[in-house]
Amino acid sequence: MIKVLISDKMSKTGIDMLKKNKKIEVDVKTDMSPDELLGCIGEYDVLLVRSKTKAKKDVIDAGKKLKIIGRAGTGVDNIDIPYASKKGIIVMNTPWGNTVSAAEHAIGLMMSLSRNIPQAHMSIKNKKWDKKKFMGTEVRDKVLGVIGLGRIGGEVAKRGIGLVMKVIGYDPIMSKERAREMGVELVTLEKLFSQSDYITIHVPMTKETKYLINKNTIAKMKETVRIINCARGGIVNEKDLAEAVKTGRIAGAALDVYENEPALDSPVMDVDNIVVTPHLGASTREAQENVAVDLAKQVLAYFEKGMVINAVNMPAVDNEQMKILRPYIELSEKLGMLLTQIREGSVSKISIRYFGDIIKYNITPLTLSVLKGFLEPVLEKDSVNLINVSLIAADRGIKVEESKTSGLDKDYANLIEVSVESGKGTDRIAGTLFGSKDARIVRIKEYKVDVVPGKYMLLCYNRDKAGVIGKLGTMLGENKINIASMQTGRSKAGGTAITVINIDSSVSQGLMKKIKSIEEIIDARMLKL
Ligand code: NAD
Ligand code: MLT
Repeated sequence: MIKVLISDKMSKTGIDMLKKNKKIEVDVKTDMSPDELLGCIGEYDVLLVRSKTKAKKDVIDAGKKLKIIGRAGTGVDNIDIPYASKKGIIVMNTPWGNTVSAAEHAIGLMMSLSRNIPQAHMSIKNKKWDKKKFMGTEVRDKVLGVIGLGRIGGEVAKRGIGLVMKVIGYDPIMSKERAREMGVELVTLEKLFSQSDYITIHVPMTKETKYLINKNTIAKMKETVRIINCARGGIVNEKDLAEAVKTGRIAGAALDVYENEPALDSPVMDVDNIVVTPHLGASTREAQENVAVDLAKQVLAYFEKGMVINAVNMPAVDNEQMKILRPYIELSEKLGMLLTQIREGSVSKISIRYFGDIIKYNITPLTLSVLKGFLEPVLEKDSVNLINVSLIAADRGIKVEESKTSGLDKDYANLIEVSVESGKGTDRIAGTLFGSKDARIVRIKEYKVDVVPGKYMLLCYNRDKAGVIGKLGTMLGENKINIASMQTGRSKAGGTAITVINIDSSVSQGLMKKIKSIEEIIDARMLKL
């Protein structure tokens, strides 16, 4: 018998679908304390949760029989995914089920802001007839700036167009063609900030998006702008937002999500022109039905057909070929991660070329690893894996091309070359393995290099003149940044050169600014693996 525990409230339709399978026994226990959960989880093969149950290390350790942890919803922050993966437990979510509800909520908040609906409602309930106080604005012909054009952002854009708005968008991995098909003009973030009348956020919470909206970015916006965050708390700095609305620097804002939830003490609660809802984006009958049904279907597909759908991690693969491929897989992921950090512009195509010995093997996991490395830094934490990455790339209109060349590259026994085509041309990176596992980056753009991929790497493009490396070394030394190794490459003597420095710690933004101000430095980037 397969035992399923449902520990948070879930729609009955989904539960009944599971119960119909005679080999599955379902227990619904939604009011357990953490200790009660720890006490019983050992009996179950499947744990299904929403956001209330925390499936962290202790629960995973106690869940000795667990095969699946399923999340009815998108965010998987309540599940320790790396630990579940280590234990070979599949973690799955239902990323599509609440998309429309979240998008409609964002539009609802936009309309509430434009017409002061919540404030007018409160006023009239308090026996006031304040017609003048609540003068609104139309959304027609206004500019709607959508940050993040994924599932929900895409639906919001569609609805904005339906409201006769001009929709502009920013998403680092959306191709211009795909955006055009959606009726969205792809712009830079700077342009989105300065041109939008409404800004709506639909990105995951990542290192990049933490406090994306703060006093400095707000300073770039129109005074009439209204900001909506229906994505994740922490993307907006609530203190800076409250200040900007309170002082009239911007016209208003609406939040559904907060850095600390429940968020009763957030500074935004005291500001009249900030409309707030208690994380209601997915709280519709339809969304809850959809996510429960999707999750039930996914659990049934696993036990009935061995199919893994919407897994956000990858169960460990353990076979002979994998032993040979693992170092190549790691190299491929690093090539993807580095390429995403050195390229510019919107992405339309990623090409991966394999040379030499490696082509004897199944290279699909390598291609998927390149894509995972390339896309992961801009997507929800732990949401990209080898199972879903092709779909994610295709959804964003990114073409993926793979080719094999049996002949050896003239310099290396095996070589993986990845290039990305974007609005700004083609960027390229290549790597090889010396022996069976010593990874090297051997090409960056048009430069030949020989770089061990390290955790922190400072990449500089500089004029090929004497003394540059000394200046860089001194500046890093003065800032107590230890250099592990340094590599240079150049196109021709006296032309442009590349310098890659492996360092033991990250370079602060302030120091990056100083490095960029060195006369011979054309550009510099901090790369992280
Ligand atoms: P998605 O993965 O389909 O789309 C996110 C998009 O953001 C991607 O296209 C990605 O390229 C883009 N992106 C990443 N970093 C970016 C950056 N720095 N700037 C601009 N774009 C960037 O995700 P989704 O399903 O559309 O969900 C979006 C967000 O909404 C998530 O944070 C999710 O957890 C949240 N969500 C909230 C509710 C709610 O109840 N309020 C409901 C569902 C989802
Ligand atoms: C989600 O991640 O799906 C949403 O935040 C809604 C939720 O389930 O709470």
